[in-house]
Amino acid sequence: MTEPRRPLMAGNWKMNVNHFEAIALVQKLAFALSDKDLEAVDVLVLPPFTDLRSVQTLIDGDRYRIAYGAQDISVHESGAYTGEISGSMLAKLGCSYVLAGHSERREHHAEVDEIVAAKVRSAQRHSMIPILCVGERLEIRREARHVEYVLGQVEAALGDLSTEALSAIVFAYEPVWAIGTGEVATPEDAQEVCGAIRGLVSQRSESAGESVRILYGGSVKMSSVAGIMAQPDIDGCLVGGASLDPDEFIGIVRYRLLAQADQV
Ligand code: 13P
Repeated sequence: MTEPRRPLMAGNWKMNVNHFEAIALVQKLAFALSDKDLEAVDVLVLPPFTDLRSVQTLIDGDRYRIAYGAQDISVHESGAYTGEISGSMLAKLGCSYVLAGHSERREHHAEVDEIVAAKVRSAQRHSMIPILCVGERLEIRREARHVEYVLGQVEAALGDLSTEALSAIVFAYEPVWAIGTGEVATPEDAQEVCGAIRGLVSQRSESAGESVRILYGGSVKMSSVAGIMAQPDIDGCLVGGASLDPDEFIGIVRYRLLAQADQV
């Protein structure tokens, strides 16, 4: 029998929260989340680079069961790359996850599929879990090409990755039109693409298809999380704006309780 997939709720803080504020935010999450919450769900924060050392010191010092990671990684190992942050630097800071190919990086920093593929490999070289972000822009959805487009992004990033490496990736489907717009995809829309991603992974390796976690991201809130998490191929959420509000993010982590309340 295969193990059930552990839900993962990840907060992408983007370019918000300085290192003082980061300490306060992580403390609020840690105080509010019970052992029961953290047994049921993996909780991850993705602060800006400049916060990572403070977050590490707090989480390690107080033994919080919250994981942390980075929003980006260099494709290079070291050298004359002004402004870049290497995988070894992030690993040394105890990061366990790294985003690769977030749509804001693709859009504002010209991250093409080849770079995203190199970032996935860069994270894995340093034993961190890449969260491979994919998603279509609105015009592609309007043309009903979203599934083929997203699968193309996934294929390009995976390349000839081994089954072992494939199993160590988290996927995040984030339709660009739903990011920061308040327009959340319907659970069915999200499931359609997440199911297709799992299908593609399964073609390469059945066991990887069963075990990899696929997240949805795009305007997730406490009010929308339960419907999304009820979908069979969605194992968690990548949360932007709502992860900056501790009450909202805690509510998202506790989506099970919201789902139960809906049924009463
Ligand atoms: P929002 O939740 O603010 O729409 O952001 C989603 C996102 O881009 C997470 O990576």
